[in-house]
Amino acid sequence: MITDDFGSRRFQRALKLTGANLLDEPNQHGAFFSHAVIARGGQGTVFLGTGDDLAQSRVCVIKTFADSEQDALDRAGRSVRIQLRLLDKATDYPAALFPRDEQIRPGPWVPDILAWDLESAAPWVAQDFRGPNLRRALANGVGDRSGRSDRDQRTDADVRTWLLSQIVDAVEFAHMHDVIHRDLKPDNILVERVKASHLMVESVALCDFDLSKSRDHTTLTQTGAIMGTPGYSAPEQLWGNARDVTTAADVYAVAMVAVHLFTGLEPWDAMVGPDLMHLRLDPSAAGQLGSKREWVESALSFNPSDRPPLRALHRKLHGPEADR
Ligand SMILES: Nc1ncnc2c1ncn2[C@@H]1O[C@H](COP(=O)(O)OP(=O)(O)OP(=O)(O)O)[C@@H](O)[C@H]1O
Ligand SMILES: [Mg+2]
Repeated sequence: MITDDFGSRRFQRALKLTGANLLDEPNQHGAFFSHAVIARGGQGTVFLGTGDDLAQSRVCVIKTFADSEQDALDRAGRSVRIQLRLLDKATDYPAALFPRDEQIRPGPWVPDILAWDLESAAPWVAQDFRGPNLRRALANGVGDRSGRSDRDQRTDADVRTWLLSQIVDAVEFAHMHDVIHRDLKPDNILVERVKASHLMVESVALCDFDLSKSRDHTTLTQTGAIMGTPGYSAPEQLWGNARDVTTAADVYAVAMVAVHLFTGLEPWDAMVGPDLMHLRLDPSAAGQLGSKREWVESALSFNPSDRPPLRALHRKLHGPEADR
């Protein structure tokens, strides 16, 4: 069992990066121990943890479900299956799929699932730790020079552009495998600095697939509305029929994440308009988006069919139309 120093420096680093609160006593979940609270959600607590005596250096995240209704557990089970399926695809995912030579692929787009038990009295899922969420990473100072090598000449704006391109790739990867996330927001995007090509580079992963939809798994909520998160979720999720929620809903959420990434604003401060059907991006926020402006503005269209594909954003980030 881990005592004073929690085994590894990697754990200490994870503790600092996430700001997780240490517990007085660790809890045991199968062969894992939780040591600190990262987040308390609607249906349980998410902990920073480690493996047992045999795997203390493994830093992981343990999602638990308190007093959970069967519905929440079913969603969690589906989410595990979707994540495992994406992980399978990620391992044989050809890096050459995107026509960009400089593509660096430090890790798959979803955290590795280590183990789970959704049938015990205290259900849990253990995953690989993939860094603080985007909200926290931005607060930590994602573009800061600290921890970056002198050879890394990127500006703060370069780092943000790189993050957006990684988020777009991650979401495109899920879509390519028929998974619609449906709850993309800064809290459900993880950012970690990893070593790649002798440099430290930010690697992105998507988490929280609890609301996601896969073509292989039709859900009970198929005909009901899928709430998601007001502000980040597309309007059709809040009042539409689940059948109307397509990849265009994730496009809307990516645009809102881009607004947050480049302006620091939350949706309710960034959107203006007389009513929900006529909301648009505040011009002063739009003005901070540079080459991404036009894409983001149309991606925030009320009507899903007016939203451009994610692919079109690549040109704005990397092509001749990118900010220079
Ligand atoms: N694999 C992971 N690595 C690092 N941090 C993670 C990981 N999974 C989750 N987290 C952290 O825990 C937080 C909450 O996790 P998650 O979004 O899965 O649960 P939740 O939002 O409470 O779930 P729900 O929305 O289903 O109630 C995330 O915002 C993120 O900071
Ligand atoms: Mg979440």
